[in-house]
Amino acid sequence: FREVKNITCVGAGYVGGPTCAMIACKCPDIRVTVVDMNAEKIAQWNSDELPIFEPGLEEVVKRQRGTNLFFSSDVPKAIREADLIFISVNTPTKMYGRGKGMAPDLKYVESVARTIAEHAGGPKIVVEKSTVPVRAAESIKTILMEAQKHNRELHFQVLSNPEFLAEGTAMKDLAKPDRVLIGGESSPEGYEAVSHLVRVYEHWVDRSRIITTNTWSSELSKLAANAFLAQRISSINAISAICEATGADVSEVAHAVGYDSRIGNKFLQASVGFGGSCFQKDVLSLVYLCESLNLGKVANYWRGVIEINDWQRRRFADKIVGELFNTVAGKKIAILGFSFKKNTGDTRESSAIYVAKHLLEECAELSFYDPKVTEAQIRSELALVSGKETVDRLVKVHSNAAQACEKAHAIVILTEWDEFKTLDYASIYKTMQHPSAIFDGRLILDKKQLREIGFRVFAIGSAPEQAYNMFGTAGCGSGGDSSPNR
Ligand code: NAD
Ligand code: UDX
Repeated sequence: FREVKNITCVGAGYVGGPTCAMIACKCPDIRVTVVDMNAEKIAQWNSDELPIFEPGLEEVVKRQRGTNLFFSSDVPKAIREADLIFISVNTPTKMYGRGKGMAPDLKYVESVARTIAEHAGGPKIVVEKSTVPVRAAESIKTILMEAQKHNRELHFQVLSNPEFLAEGTAMKDLAKPDRVLIGGESSPEGYEAVSHLVRVYEHWVDRSRIITTNTWSSELSKLAANAFLAQRISSINAISAICEATGADVSEVAHAVGYDSRIGNKFLQASVGFGGSCFQKDVLSLVYLCESLNLGKVANYWRGVIEINDWQRRRFADKIVGELFNTVAGKKIAILGFSFKKNTGDTRESSAIYVAKHLLEECAELSFYDPKVTEAQIRSELALVSGKETVDRLVKVHSNAAQACEKAHAIVILTEWDEFKTLDYASIYKTMQHPSAIFDGRLILDKKQLREIGFRVFAIGSAPEQAYNMFGTAGCGSGGDSSPNR
């Protein structure tokens, strides 16, 4: 293989875009072309309004674009010109046929492999960046080898190089990754291909952080890493339910548990459940893999992570209905936050979708505000789970939080956007129906302060302040930590 001077990435999404922007930024000697079958998305990447919001991304794209970073819809040309090709297309949960609702849909990955086979014209290192099941590289290789049989100019090696970036912090994660993982074939040719990709990353990542393994270990490590991360959230969320029933406080428990250096303090934030395009899909993919391997016990173990997550969302919605006197029909409820976490406009598998679905089933009138998610996006996500007619009838979307809360019986925090921490809750309280409740699904609010304003406050993982419920003393300012019933 030639030294890598031209990289093509197929798939201009949340992974392909930021990853290639970073490579272009750190490797001025490499020309990077990102292609996609979605011409509209490519046009957006070439415009002032990028198709995704990611802190720090716009600056890098605008600096590198036209220098050594290009966005194009001409997939065959970009494949022909590349020394190394990243496959960075989506691998969503399959919604039909065998493995429906569990297995990842690999049709996009396979289609890229076929396009590479057709247009390569010469030697290429092909790199799986998409998250795929173990041994997916074998299918890609089989397709490419078939083309190689018929054309002596062709020559391929398939590597696995999963991406570990998290949305909202993608540029930081890419600039300073905990590790880069590269898996390849255990053969002289495989090692050669791996060393070419290592050299690309060595432009900015210390060699000690670049891990090389066999292909299957690399593929499995990605699924395992996401399963471990998701499992931590389900673990702390399971503990949050015990806290609510006993008077323990989940933040205090997480703090005490996380202080153990073997456990560590990250990813122990109790919440309304994890969302995003990866965790559920990848844990389900692992469960499906285990089932296919006849490892039923292992499959059930990981399935529990998803079950707790679904339960946590449901539990939170039920809590809202329960605390609003068991009926929310016709009541206005303000939902603050719709993206699956702060600092992204991505709504894929956001817990907000599911909490809203449950509340719409109870005929609540929902008024939404999210700083980065458009009204059209909120409506289309909700229409998929609740039906367009229900959404048209019961959903409103506002352009600021105060407006969304006006005349509402309750505020529900579903995304931990920083601006929700500093809203003028005293003024908002005055515009609401009373008694007014706040449900904090992200543990970002100051409960004591809100109670002093007069709110009834409910947070994941702590028992409600009994004094306020039993005697209705909210607003007198005598509650908080000094309350005798705490
Ligand atoms: P995405 O949906 O944002 O982007 C995928 C892009 O691929 C789309 O723009 C689509 O049009 C394009 N595409 C699909 N088939 C194509 C084809 N045959 N030819 C050309 N373009 C094609 O997806 P994403 O979030 O970037 O995820 C990509 C992969 O990376 C997935 O496997 C995902 O699991 C994995 N991953 C995602 C994240 C994340 O945070 N989003 C993090 C790590 C890994
Ligand atoms: C995740 C992985 O972190 C990343 O390594 C992988 O490449 C892709 O999947 P992402 O889904 O973008 O990244 O975001 P992440 O920060 O992991 O959050 C996922 C969900 O878990 C969010 O809904 C977040 O709010 C939630 N979460 C996270 C918690 O509820 N508690 C936590 O302690 C951490």
